[in-house]
Amino acid sequence: MATRLACRHPSVTCLTDGDDLYRPDWPFTWTDDCLMKITILGGTGLAGARVAAALRNRGIETIVASRSSGVDVLTGVGLSEALAGAQVALDLTDPRSRGELGVTLLDFHATAARRLGDAARTAGVGHVVILSAIGADRLVLSDFFLAKITQESLVRTCGIPFTIIRTATLFEQIYRIVDAETDAEGAIRVPPLELRPAAAADVGEIVAEAAVGTPLNDVFEVGGPETLDLATLMRGMLTANVDPRGVVVENDALFYGMQIGAERLFPRQPAVTTEIRFEDWLREFVARA
Ligand SMILES: NC(=O)c1ccc[n+]([C@@H]2O[C@H](COP(=O)([O-])OP(=O)(O)OC[C@H]3O[C@@H](n4cnc5c(N)ncnc54)[C@H](OP(=O)(O)O)[C@@H]3O)[C@@H](O)[C@H]2O)c1
Repeated sequence: MATRLACRHPSVTCLTDGDDLYRPDWPFTWTDDCLMKITILGGTGLAGARVAAALRNRGIETIVASRSSGVDVLTGVGLSEALAGAQVALDLTDPRSRGELGVTLLDFHATAARRLGDAARTAGVGHVVILSAIGADRLVLSDFFLAKITQESLVRTCGIPFTIIRTATLFEQIYRIVDAETDAEGAIRVPPLELRPAAAADVGEIVAEAAVGTPLNDVFEVGGPETLDLATLMRGMLTANVDPRGVVVENDALFYGMQIGAERLFPRQPAVTTEIRFEDWLREFVARA
C-alpha cells in the first residue's frame, strides 16, 4: 500500500495533482505529497521495531526484513526482493542477539554494508540510513566500535546518499550488557563509565524522522537527557528485575572488550537530545512487568 505523506526526500517519486508520476531532478524543492516505501533490515530488533512503528504511525509503507522473514544481510539472500521499490533502506541489523555469531562483528557489519550498498544501487534506493554508536570514531580498539566505524566508512563510500546516526547506548541494552559481562561468580565488573543513555522509543522516532528526511551525507549523534554511570544503570535494571547479581566498579574493567580510561560516551555536536529519562522509563518497565 502506497500512502500520501508530506516528505522532503529527493529520491522519492512524487504525485502531482493529476496523479501523474514523475521523479524530480536534483536539486528539488520538497513540498509535494510523496509515495514512499522504506525497508528496514533488522526491523524486528530492539531499535528496528521502534523505527518500524514510528514509520507506520506516519502512514509510510514499511517493509520489515530480517532472517526470520528470509532476508540475510550476510549471505545476501532475499535482499534484492526486500529492497525492490524502496526509496530508503535502513540497516539496523546486529548479529549478537541470537548468540551464535559465526563471523566476527567486523566481518558481519563490513559484509552487510557491502551487500546492502550493491543491492541498494541495483534497486535504485536513494537514501541509506544506518544506526551506529557514539564512540565509533574514537574507540577502535573494541571489536564492536571498530565494526561500527567500518560499517560507517563503507556506507559513506557506497555511492548512495546516506545518513549515519550514532546513538548512545539504549536503556533496553543495559540488561544485555549485564548478561554479557557477568563472570563465573555472578559478579559484573564495569569501569566507572559515564554515558548519556536513551530510550529505544525516542531513538526510533529520531531514526524514522531521518529516514523520511533529506540525506545528510554525514553523521549526527543522539544522546539521552542526563548523564548516568554504567553501574547505576545496571543496578537499576537488576533491582527492577529482582536480580540478585552485584555490580563491582573497577578502573580497569572492560567495556565492549576494551579499557575505556577517562573516556565518556557523550554525544558531540551536532547532536539531538532525547526526552525520556531513565527513572521514568524504569518505572514504566516495572509497571509493565
Ligand atoms: N542497542 C543499542 O544500545 C545500540 C547502541 C548503538 C548502536 N546500535 C546499533 O543499532 C543497530 C540495531 O541494534 P539492536 O540493539 O536493535 O539490535 P537487535 O535488537 O539485536 O536486533 C538485531 C536485528 O538484526 C536482525 N539480524 C541479525 N542478523 C541478521 C542477518 N544476518 N540478516 C538479517 N537480519 C539480521 C535480527 O533479526 P533476526 O534474528 O530475525 O535476523 C534483528 O532484527 C545495530 O547496528 C547496533 O550496532 C545499538
